[in-house]
Amino acid sequence: MVNKNQPSLACFLNSLARESQSVQLLHNQDGEHSYQLPLSHSRSIHIPLSYYSTLGSHEYRLPAQLLTEQGTEELTPEQLIEHIVNEPALVGVVSEEQKSIFAKRVLESHHNTQQAIDHSPYQQQLFNNQLDFKTAEQGLLIGHSFHPAPKSREQFSLSDAKRYSPELGGKFKLFWLAITQEIVTTGSSASIDFTKRLEALVAHDPILVDALHNALQQGKTLLPVHPWQWHVMADNPSIKAYIATKQIENLGQIGATWYPTSSTRSLYAPNLPYMLKFSLSVKLTNSIRNLSLKEVVRGTRLNELFQLPELAEQLGEREGFQLMQEPAFIGINDLSDEIIDESLVAFRDNPLMYNPAQEAVVLATLTQQNPYGGSSLVAQRIQHYAEQQDITPRDAATRWFDAYCRHAVVPLFNLQANWGIVFLAHQQNIVMQLEQGFPVGMYYRDCQGTGYTDLAFGLFGDKLGDDKQALENYWNQDKVRRYFAYYLVINSTFNVISAICANLDVEEMELIQVLHRNLQTLLDSGVKDDLCLRYVLSSDALCCKGNFFCYLQNFNENSIPDPAVIYFDLVNPLAKVEELTHA
Ligand SMILES: Nc1ncnc2c1ncn2[C@@H]1O[C@H](COP(=O)(O)OP(=O)(O)OP(=O)(O)O)[C@@H](O)[C@H]1O
Ligand SMILES: [Mg+2]
Repeated sequence: MVNKNQPSLACFLNSLARESQSVQLLHNQDGEHSYQLPLSHSRSIHIPLSYYSTLGSHEYRLPAQLLTEQGTEELTPEQLIEHIVNEPALVGVVSEEQKSIFAKRVLESHHNTQQAIDHSPYQQQLFNNQLDFKTAEQGLLIGHSFHPAPKSREQFSLSDAKRYSPELGGKFKLFWLAITQEIVTTGSSASIDFTKRLEALVAHDPILVDALHNALQQGKTLLPVHPWQWHVMADNPSIKAYIATKQIENLGQIGATWYPTSSTRSLYAPNLPYMLKFSLSVKLTNSIRNLSLKEVVRGTRLNELFQLPELAEQLGEREGFQLMQEPAFIGINDLSDEIIDESLVAFRDNPLMYNPAQEAVVLATLTQQNPYGGSSLVAQRIQHYAEQQDITPRDAATRWFDAYCRHAVVPLFNLQANWGIVFLAHQQNIVMQLEQGFPVGMYYRDCQGTGYTDLAFGLFGDKLGDDKQALENYWNQDKVRRYFAYYLVINSTFNVISAICANLDVEEMELIQVLHRNLQTLLDSGVKDDLCLRYVLSSDALCCKGNFFCYLQNFNENSIPDPAVIYFDLVNPLAKVEELTHA
């Protein structure tokens, strides 16, 4: 099948179209849509669309055409990017240096994606089969669907990328350090000692069991290290000093084989009780991926809170809405007793430990555009469900999406609106649990993305501390609206809708109505904090993150003083449903 849509360029073009008024999406008399971008000197870029999405997730018929007074010429991806970046009316006031860094990273990302498409160990299987957790994690070939450079990872060399990138089938063993207890900081929740958790993690390997035993006898412990990160850590002056004094001894690469998951820095080993999330000093999308102490504490705090029976009851057991808790962490203190961010590692519960073969698929892999030509995985799974149930693909799509809303959207909103606990549930933080392709539950992961609102303080003030302003992940209503609604509704749910509708005979607005109905039912049930639900259901616009311009300015998202500057207003299709029903 000839595929003229190159998904990595689609991510770039779609993020630009969402954020720039200059892009026009035209509809001609034959019902065809096209992407038009006026340039200076009476030139314009023109690309026919093979799928027009009301939610912005278009598919293209490349190559792009440059229309000039002299005629038309086809543009290579390099030329397309160059023309866009060099158009002042489009990119605004940015320095030459910013432009060249941006163009370089966009192209690097494009080549990395192409390489993943060509060399993924899984290839077409990613789009027509049931996938287990590991395959789905390593099957995210395209990355963030509204980002100009989703797969840029400039700190990795080519051989690093082969070894450490999920989409190239990376797998490796960890370094293990024997390290003096006095120079580590650990955290562990739910009345389980950190060492107990470490023992459970190393129990699979006799060499590690021995190493831990010996270390404990000498007042030491073990600390796992991502092998790429070791090069960064070994350059740290404090760590150099500890090696010299033998307070740190590197035992080498031992134990289980680990697989990078879709975020690259979190690793998975089937059958072990924990996954491990590391600091990885590589810029992936908008930030250098270092953990901080406050971030890992969010995990232990959340796990502690969910020991309360009323919260534990909100979670399903083996099915339904589940959390991958991050109950413990460890890191190294420097010579001044400050934690070294680059050394931090969080332990994440592995709910797939006893059933690694279950169909557990990160949403971003389910929805990614198919670079081999053909449907997205979600559309394939729905088609399969339709055949099994002997119903039309359209009915299957509506049922599938309704089940997604029940297992993912509604439980996440319930925690926000009835308990004041907020999760940044974007497409890469949601893992759908499927049975024969149909949603039966979900796992939320990534405790760095949690926040607590006034409601949570009212309910659990004793556990969260009385001074809410002192809690770094206290969120006011503005923050809830901006982040929670953007990640769950725009980033995750709108992409699910487009990925279904681009490939099956169902309109995006029909699924928007299903989403609306699910949210309205939750609202009608009488929630404790209805502000965000009402905002999502009826505000004319939703706050949307602007990845294109954020990346162009070369911001590190984690360190800009006011991240609100990278958000803009996007028309809210859910508000149109209200208008329709009230008309
Ligand atoms: N739709 C998406 N939205 C956000 N990030 C995405 C998306 N698709 C892919 N990604 C990728 O997933 C990662 C998301 O970063 P995030 O901070 O959520 O994860 P993490 O904290 O690094 O790891 P983990 O999810 O394992 O906890 C980035 O590397 C980003 O490029
Ligand atoms: Mg994540």
